Amino acid sequence: MSTLFDPIQIGDIALANRIIMAPLTRNRAVEGKVAGPLTVEYYRQRASAGLIIAEASQISPMAQGYLDTPGIYSPEQIAGWRQVTDAVHAAGGKIVLQLWHVGRISHTSLLPDGAAPVSSTANTANAMTFTAEGFVPVSTPRALRDDEIPGLIEDYRRAARNAIAAGFDGVEVHAANTYLIEQFLRDSVNDRSGPYGGSIANRARLLLEVMQAVTEEIGAGRTGVRLSPMTTFTAPLDSNPQALYGYIVEKLAPLGLAYLHVIEGETGGTRTPEGKEFDYAALHRAFPGAWMLNNGYSRELALDTVANGKADLIAFGRPFISTPDLVRRLREDKPLNELRADKLYGGGAEGYTDYPALAD
Ligand code: PHB
Repeated sequence: MSTLFDPIQIGDIALANRIIMAPLTRNRAVEGKVAGPLTVEYYRQRASAGLIIAEASQISPMAQGYLDTPGIYSPEQIAGWRQVTDAVHAAGGKIVLQLWHVGRISHTSLLPDGAAPVSSTANTANAMTFTAEGFVPVSTPRALRDDEIPGLIEDYRRAARNAIAAGFDGVEVHAANTYLIEQFLRDSVNDRSGPYGGSIANRARLLLEVMQAVTEEIGAGRTGVRLSPMTTFTAPLDSNPQALYGYIVEKLAPLGLAYLHVIEGETGGTRTPEGKEFDYAALHRAFPGAWMLNNGYSRELALDTVANGKADLIAFGRPFISTPDLVRRLREDKPLNELRADKLYGGGAEGYTDYPALAD
């Protein structure tokens, strides 16, 4: 029987325990959308996690959707992230980077030359984003042409290569939370015809081509992927989530990925949304690699879930923001620090690097 505190090998990456820091948007990138010195300190403080999944980072200038999120497309960004990965490795930790394209969840003021966001569709999301002017409705997107998809896949490939150049142990492809890849996956958003619209196989094509490119580039043993079948965040559910995500996992299974990361229920909300039952265990049975679950785990639920073999890894989000030494607190069953929710997005050290660890 494994416990939450046992080491595990996932693909090419050896983890000291099964407690994972979930990717968390903090909007503290410095000039050039670079991870700065505070971000180095923030991740260094959390290096006792079995694995840190560093915050969603845009793969290109067109992939950004919120103010002050970091990128992984420029030499300055690679150099900034190198400081982070060196600090985490020096502290004995492991760290991968989440590769992000927001699709239509963006605003013209955040994009090069005031461009419209791109998506599977030209329909506007019913969602807000955060810009230099504060919270504003997202802009109307432009539907990507089919002949633009190879360039998009190249952006993912280059971002993965850049992440390895920056010293990351791997990458996680962000295919969750109704951002670009999920805007292709779901029939509630994707209104295309042609090779990337219509059938489940067509809607899943972009994700599978991205996974093919990334695993070719850096190796499947350094690649993970995140899915959120029941999250409505900025888009309604697919008409048949079980069939859609079942197909995706069936196609991901033979790739030899390091892990699959699934958000249960509504991201950041309830694990069991009313009337939205989903059989996550069916996906687990179909996937041979390490199985990571996330969303609102308590200590007890995390311990039970790993002990019962329902997951290999548990990702914690908000608990890792407030409590840099979360692994120790869980092991010793000590209370966590209180989260300062008003300091989540943007700002400086306050509510970022000033949460205390237990004294020795
Ligand atoms: C957010 O910035 O609100 C955000 C970013 C990435 C996610 C979810 C939420 O996956």
